[in-house]
Amino acid sequence: MNVGFSIKLALVVGAIFLLLGNAFIIIKNYQTEWRTYQEQYLQLVAEKTIEPQMKEILKNRSPRIEQIVVTGFGKERVDRCITCHMGVDDERFKDAQQPFTTHPKIAGNHPYRTFGCTTCHDGNGRGLSVTDAHGQEKHWTEPLLHGDYIESSCAKCHPAPFYAETPHLQQGAELFRNKACYGCHKIEGVSNGKLGPELTKVATKWPRAYLEESIVVPTANNFESLMPKMQLTAEEVKSLVIYMKSLTGENLMTGPVTKFESVKAWKAAPVQEVPVTVESGKFVYEDKACNSCHTINGVGGKIGPDLSVYGLQRTPEWMIQHHINPRSLVGGSMMPDFTYSQSELEALTLYLGSLKQLTVDNSVIYAQESVK
Ligand code: HEC
Ligand code: HEC
Ligand code: HEC
Ligand code: HEC
Ligand code: HEC
Repeated sequence: MNVGFSIKLALVVGAIFLLLGNAFIIIKNYQTEWRTYQEQYLQLVAEKTIEPQMKEILKNRSPRIEQIVVTGFGKERVDRCITCHMGVDDERFKDAQQPFTTHPKIAGNHPYRTFGCTTCHDGNGRGLSVTDAHGQEKHWTEPLLHGDYIESSCAKCHPAPFYAETPHLQQGAELFRNKACYGCHKIEGVSNGKLGPELTKVATKWPRAYLEESIVVPTANNFESLMPKMQLTAEEVKSLVIYMKSLTGENLMTGPVTKFESVKAWKAAPVQEVPVTVESGKFVYEDKACNSCHTINGVGGKIGPDLSVYGLQRTPEWMIQHHINPRSLVGGSMMPDFTYSQSELEALTLYLGSLKQLTVDNSVIYAQESVK
C-alpha cells in the first residue's frame, strides 16, 4: 500500500471517530441535563407528598419534558422552563434550591400556565440545557432577564403610565425627555427626532450590552458618531437601558383584549333556567364558550387555568362565589363576570365538581395548583 494513501485513510478514520465522539457528547448532554433535574424533582416532591392517591401517581411518573404553550400573547411560545423549574407554583418548595424554588411573589395575577416564562424573562423557551434555555448562546439576542432588568418586559404588556413596581422604567422614560434624547431619536407615539436612528423597535434589534454601549460610549460602534457623550450616573444608564429594552414596537396585550371584547358580547346573552345536573352544567360550560380560555382533558384555550381536576381543588361555595365575581377571590383576575341564573350556577358547580379524574398527564397540574 502506498504511504500517502494510508496516511489519508488514517486521517479519515480519525476524523470519523472524532465526529462520532462529539456527537455522542452532545446527545448525552442534551439528554442528561434536564433528566437529572426531573429525577431530583420527583424525589423531592415524593418526600413532600403525604396524600396516598397522589403518592401512587407520582410513583408511576418518569422524567419527561414539561412545557407551557403560550397562545394568549403575541407569537406562540413553547416554554419548557418548568421541565427544570418545577416548583414555581408550589409553596412547598419555598426553601428548595434553584431550579426548584417557589417563584417570588410578584405584583398582579399572572398565572404561569397562561403566561409561561419567556413573556417576562426572555431566554429560549425551547431550550433543555441551562446554556440554551437561559439564552447564553452567543447568537441568541434575548438572554435571560432577571433582577431590575425584568421591568423592560412589564412594559410589553403595560406601557406607560408605569406601575410602582417598575421604577427604573419610569426613570428611563423621564431621562429620555430630560436628557434631550428625544431631540435626535424617534419613538412612535413619544418623540420625533431625526438625527439618530429610530428607536421604536430598538429592543428587537440589539442585545442589552450593545444598547448600554451605545449610551455610555456613543463612538464605540461608530467612530464619527454625532451622538454626544452624556453625563449619566450608573443608575441612570441602567434605567435608560431598561427603557430601551422595553421598546419592541408591539403590545402583547392586544390579543387578550380582543378576546375580552368578544366575551363582553356573550355576557350580554339572556340567562336561562336549566335542570341542576352534571350534564346541563357541561352544556352551560359549552354554551358560554368557557373553553376559549380553559382546557379540560387536553381540549381548549390557555388564558385561564386547566380545569381537568378542578373538583379536587375547590369547594362548591368557592366555585359559586368565584363565578359571581372572580375578582372577589382572585385579585386582578382577567376572568369575565358572566351573568348566570341560579340554576345555571348550581349546574356548573356540579359539573366542575365532577372533574376529578387524576391521570399521569394532569397530576403535575394538580400538584402545582392545589397547594395555592
Ligand atoms: C436544564 C434545566 C433548566 C432549564 C430548562 C431552565 N433553567 Fe433556569 N435555572 C436552572 C438552574 C440549575 C438555575 C440555578 C443556577 C444557575 O443560575 O445556573 C437556574 C436559574 C434561573 C434563574 C435565576 C437566575 C440567576 O442567575 O440567579 C432564572 C430567572 C431562571 N433560571 C429562569 C429560567 C427561564 C425563564 C427558563 C426558560 C426559558 C429556564 N430558567 C430554563 C435550570 C434550568
Ligand atoms: C404578557 C403580558 C404581561 C406581562 C409581560 C406582564 N403583565 Fe401584568 N398583567 C397582565 C394581565 C393580562 C393582567 C390582568 C389584567 C386584568 O385582569 O384585567 C395583569 C395584571 C397586572 C397587575 C394588576 C393591576 C391591573 O392593572 O390589573 C399589575 C400590578 C401588573 N400586572 C404588573 C406587572 C409587572 C410589574 C410586570 C413585570 C414584572 C407585568 N405585570 C408583566 C399582563 C402582563
Ligand atoms: C409576569 C412576569 C413573570 C413571569 C410570567 C414569570 N416571572 Fe419569574 N420573575 C418575575 C419577577 C418580577 C421576578 C423578581 C425579580 C427577579 O428576581 O428576577 C422573578 C423572579 C424569578 C426567579 C428568581 C430569580 C433570582 O434572581 O433569584 C426565577 C428562578 C424565575 N423568576 C423563574 C421563572 C419561571 C421558570 C417562570 C415560568 C414558569 C417565570 N419565572 C415566570 C417575573 C415573572
Ligand atoms: C445629538 C443627537 C443625539 C442625541 C441627543 C442622542 N443620540 Fe442616540 N444616537 C445618535 C446618532 C446619530 C446615533 C447613530 C449611531 C451612532 O452614531 O453611533 C445614535 C445611536 C443611539 C443608539 C443605538 C441605536 C442603534 O440602532 O444603533 C441608542 C440606543 C441611542 N442612540 C440612545 C440614546 C439615548 C438613550 C440618548 C439620551 C441619553 C441619546 N441617544 C441621545 C444621536 C443622538
Ligand atoms: C377571557 C378568558 C376567560 C373566560 C372566557 C373564562 N375564564 Fe375562567 N378564568 C380565566 C382566568 C384568567 C382565570 C384565572 C384567574 C382566576 O382564578 O380568576 C380563570 C379562572 C377560572 C377558574 C378557577 C378559579 C379558581 O382559582 O379557583 C374556574 C373554575 C373558571 N375560571 C371557570 C370558568 C367558566 C365556568 C367559564 C365560562 C362560564 C370561564 N371560566 C370563562 C379566564 C377566563
